[in-house]
Amino acid sequence: MENIDALTAIFTRRSIRRFSPRTIDEKTQNILLRAAFAAPAAENARTRHFIVISDKDVLNTLPSLHPSADPAREAALAVLICCDTSAEPQTVFWPQDCAAAAENIMLAARAVGIGSLWCGIHPVEAREQAFLDAFSLPGMIRPSDLIILGYPLQEFFEENSYDAHHLHADTWGRSYPPVSAPFVE
Ligand SMILES: Cc1cc2nc3c(=O)[nH]c(=O)nc-3n(C[C@H](O)[C@H](O)[C@H](O)COP(=O)(O)O)c2cc1C
Repeated sequence: MENIDALTAIFTRRSIRRFSPRTIDEKTQNILLRAAFAAPAAENARTRHFIVISDKDVLNTLPSLHPSADPAREAALAVLICCDTSAEPQTVFWPQDCAAAAENIMLAARAVGIGSLWCGIHPVEAREQAFLDAFSLPGMIRPSDLIILGYPLQEFFEENSYDAHHLHADTWGRSYPPVSAPFVE
């Protein structure tokens, strides 16, 4: 199993939209799910639930629920990240909690050579409703994000998205870094 360092995973993760037919074994799925649960959560609230989708029939329904989910037809796995809005303690930060889990899944996936695509659901009401209906989610469950996963038919690569114009030193509008050029290798 490929296993790269954290910074390489962060810098070379890309949205992947073409997948090989290779399945993701249970041990590897477990790594991705452990990464999901390891994500930070406001007040350490445990409101996140994950629907792990490997059934081809269910994967094939995803494009009808989300406008970007076509790659699910080729994917080995998808994870629907949801929040239980009845869990205690509750947090207004549940969308961020779900997003943190999404990013953790994607970085762990990249680390083991798996590609991923984030399909945003919340707060687009029509998308939320589509997933509520299709997965018969109870009323207190809010679907937040769909992560599509599989071994990639595209290359991972590093993209330089560093933008010094969006950096501010100590206060808004003072350029950072003040003297030297941006640090990008
Ligand atoms: C909250 C969120 C929602 C996203 N939703 C979608 C989506 O609905 N469809 C899609 O194709 N990509 C979606 N993306 C992926 C972004 O388009 C992608 O990350 C961005 O274009 C940068 O490309 P990269 O992931 O290769 O760095 C989403 C990303 C985030 C963070």
